[in-house]
Amino acid sequence: MPDTLTITDNRTGKQYELPIQDGAIRAMDLRQIKVKPDDFGLMTYDPAFMNTAACRSRITYIDGDKGILLYRGYPIEQLAERSDYLETAYLILYGELPTEAQYQDWVREIKLHTMLHENIKKLMEGFQYDAHPMGIFLSTVGAMSTFYPDGKDILNDESRRHQRVRLIAKVPSVAAYAYRHHIGRPYVYPDNDLSFTGNFLNMLFKMTELKYRSNPVLERALDVLFILHVDHEQNCSTSAMRGVGSSHVDPYSAMAAAAAALYGPLHGGANEAVLRMLEEVRTVQQVPAFIKRVKGGEGRLMGFGHRVYKSYDPRAKIIKQVADQVFEVTGRNHLLDIALELERIALQDEYFVQRKLYPNVDFYSGLIYQAMGFPKDMFPVLFAIPRTAGWVAQWEEMLLDPDQKIARPRQIYTGATRRDFVPRDKRG
Ligand code: ACO
Repeated sequence: MPDTLTITDNRTGKQYELPIQDGAIRAMDLRQIKVKPDDFGLMTYDPAFMNTAACRSRITYIDGDKGILLYRGYPIEQLAERSDYLETAYLILYGELPTEAQYQDWVREIKLHTMLHENIKKLMEGFQYDAHPMGIFLSTVGAMSTFYPDGKDILNDESRRHQRVRLIAKVPSVAAYAYRHHIGRPYVYPDNDLSFTGNFLNMLFKMTELKYRSNPVLERALDVLFILHVDHEQNCSTSAMRGVGSSHVDPYSAMAAAAAALYGPLHGGANEAVLRMLEEVRTVQQVPAFIKRVKGGEGRLMGFGHRVYKSYDPRAKIIKQVADQVFEVTGRNHLLDIALELERIALQDEYFVQRKLYPNVDFYSGLIYQAMGFPKDMFPVLFAIPRTAGWVAQWEEMLLDPDQKIARPRQIYTGATRRDFVPRDKRG
């Protein structure tokens, strides 16, 4: 017998049998529940989508209570240990790990598209010297829509494939140019002899040397951080990508919206906010007083808490190990002791325990980025580079899903009832 939910409407005494599929009822099935035939029908009220599945997805699985994260079925821990960013991006986009030949073709194709149009460079030169790199990044991604008008052909498989490669290949160049502009250094062109992250570090940090070679430990650490950030199912920026993309706009415009969502301090801006918080706390001795202020409602413990994880974020565990490897090369970040003390106290404190607040991916990532020489305002940009693969995969899944239409939530109107216009000289 199929699973059903029986609802009795005590306004009418009528009973309704709603099918349950995959642990959910269809919100549209509630619309038949009416008092009078011309009623609109019952809706659900779910601000911030706390309990509403907006799509079916085959990309990323999270069990927030158990701290499990799978990309296309593969545990994040295995990918972080044995894969690299481009292979993981392929997996996220195509659903399967590539064969050796597919991997080589994919890497070659990405490397072919790392250059930016010179006019994109000129456009970026127009930003103020102190412009936030994430502001430059999201504006430039939006502007790319005008350089690649073929991106509008979103229902054409070949065109989508092309935009997908362009986006993944070019975002490190956009990010690096934004950074170089911010610090007033000349732009560095991509070096396609290097790995994806090796080339990114080259575009960021090359000075007068003929060939830039990054430290292999740092290059691998960045690659692992990129793997951890590829996708995270229906988070705020991914929902922006899907929602805006559902209007059938080109992927560059949709991704500018996703990047804007990621910029916020409650989302991808959190790693930057964590560092600012650690600097504000200043010493390990100040930690108890800071925790007290958070509990008193004066701000949040940034890098703690998550809408889905109600246990330790599995990415935070991996990042803690990466931090040890990075600090062996760069020396220990002095803010680490404050972070460790904040975590130690918070994990024992009734306030955090009761609310199931644990460190999330952003709690330690900023410390690593800072030790590697990145300024704080580059942190959200570092998040956006690998998340591009996730955004594009989710955007394509949305476009090809016959259940999807333009995203358009309902509202419960709470404003004034109908009233007539009063001329200004008659208003009280
Ligand atoms: N510090 C202190 N208290 C917190 C924190 C925190 N970091 N996070 C949640 N709480 C408290 C809330 O005040 C609330 O308490 P109350 O029930 O007494 O009112 C309770 O815990 C539940 O919090 P909500 O805000 O309802 O949880 P929600 O799921 O809406 O928010 C979020 C999740 C935005 C991540 C939140 O935990 C937060 O602001 N964390 C800090 C910012 C951060 O680290 N963001 C990165 C998220 S990961 C990512 O985007 C990659």
